[in-house]
Amino acid sequence: MQEPQQQSQSGLSRFGDMPPVEFRKQLHELADWIADFREHIDELCVAPHDKPGAIREQLPKRAPEEGEPFEEILTDVDRIIVPGMVHWSHPMFLGYFGWTSTAPGILGEILTAPLNVNAMTWRTCPAATELETVMIDWLRQWVGLSDDFDGVIFDTASVGIMHALAVAREEAAPATRKLGLTGRDLPRLRIYTSDQAHSSAEKAAIALGLGEENVIRIPSDEQFRMDVDSLGQTIAKDRRNGLPPMAVVATVGTTSTASVDPVSEIANLCREAKIWLHIDAAYGGGFAMVPEYDWTRKGWELADSIVINPHKTVFVPLDFSVLYVRDLARLRRVFSLVPEYLRGDTVDAEKNYMDYGIQLGRRFRALKAWVIWRSLGRTGVVARLREQIRLARLLVDWIKRDDRFELSAQPSMGVVCFRFIGAAAPLPGMGTTAPGRAGPTDRVDKINSDIVERINASGCAYLTQTKLRGQTVMRIGLGNVLTTEEHLRSGWEIIQKTASDL
Ligand SMILES: Cc1ncc(COP(=O)(O)O)c(C=O)c1O
Repeated sequence: MQEPQQQSQSGLSRFGDMPPVEFRKQLHELADWIADFREHIDELCVAPHDKPGAIREQLPKRAPEEGEPFEEILTDVDRIIVPGMVHWSHPMFLGYFGWTSTAPGILGEILTAPLNVNAMTWRTCPAATELETVMIDWLRQWVGLSDDFDGVIFDTASVGIMHALAVAREEAAPATRKLGLTGRDLPRLRIYTSDQAHSSAEKAAIALGLGEENVIRIPSDEQFRMDVDSLGQTIAKDRRNGLPPMAVVATVGTTSTASVDPVSEIANLCREAKIWLHIDAAYGGGFAMVPEYDWTRKGWELADSIVINPHKTVFVPLDFSVLYVRDLARLRRVFSLVPEYLRGDTVDAEKNYMDYGIQLGRRFRALKAWVIWRSLGRTGVVARLREQIRLARLLVDWIKRDDRFELSAQPSMGVVCFRFIGAAAPLPGMGTTAPGRAGPTDRVDKINSDIVERINASGCAYLTQTKLRGQTVMRIGLGNVLTTEEHLRSGWEIIQKTASDL
């Protein structure tokens, strides 16, 4: 006879799941917890004060022997996890690229949890597969990309570029998929990107066996855009030395300043020289939806691949990145490999997304995009991006009015880079250090770095620092729908006061 099902301390039955009545109760409590968290997020410290290891010390060294009740787990979330976090969704979080938490985005994530499907083939979840296809196409239309492009959803842009460059590698060195790179008479293949581009190009080169040193950094101009003449000269020189070009990575929205490379010129060069062009529009891609920014998509039609991160600028919660490839079959040819046990599941399908990358198991990411994009609509997305641009310009005005600060780069999209230079009158032009004011460059660097570190340690606001032309500068990235003009003003006043106190 079967033993009667007993409930453990955790409220779960001995072999199965939580009884439905209990689950419903917990869900209601969790709903309140989530709503309270979101409503009162601005009362939290943006960043913790703790030293590394402080969270670990509060956690048991061993996993529990017996199950524990959900109430206790949630209490520990409040006690240990929430105070130990940098709150990216806090309205005073002004670091990196702001952040894309929204209430509909959270609802989308919650909806995804109980479905918990594996979107590896069409047959294993037709709705996940087909919704993914439709979301990729909605975004393509929104950013004005031609229908020669089709895509796949990955977690991040870093994974996207790796897949794009795998195809570029296959086209530059045919049969690499089959034979690999070693033991063959292959030259070193070169990848070119600007000195402002994200390190994901190097990471991809490492993963693909192309070698980090074969990613060549091309100098950028005074506005942090790739210098196309220098690109052409470097490629020509490499060719003479038996180092053929494999790909160029142009950026629309660089990590430090959100500068935009001259993509059209780069694209023409790549077309003539038959080089794969990848566009890293991880940040800037979303802004192509804003009519005033449609110039940023000039030249996209000539690209081979483009990556856009809706988790940066199109309000989808992390993680959600789309890789578009012109003629997506090129990606499929490199990655399609159907194991015997899945053969039956791959028939009758228009698309099995496992064929377009190294992942077999895939989350149902499209659902949260569907929820947030339907909730905002195109006009809602554009209005919010315009507000980020407005706030960034406002901050620029404030910076210009305080002669102790200077702009360090042309503001772009939601990103503003600036530098504290001391108390005297401003120097003409931008990006210059003020000799004899706050002192020599390394002293000014230290002051700027200290301002950022003090503010971040205070828990009142959070910003980032970066290096531009060797100088340390402060950087604000707007992107959070909760960040209002008042929050930004308060952040600016904190910066001014911290600078005065130093
Ligand atoms: C321009 C740019 N490209 C790529 C990336 C990498 O993005 P991910 O974290 O999605 O890999 C970043 C990250 O901030 C970025 O700024």
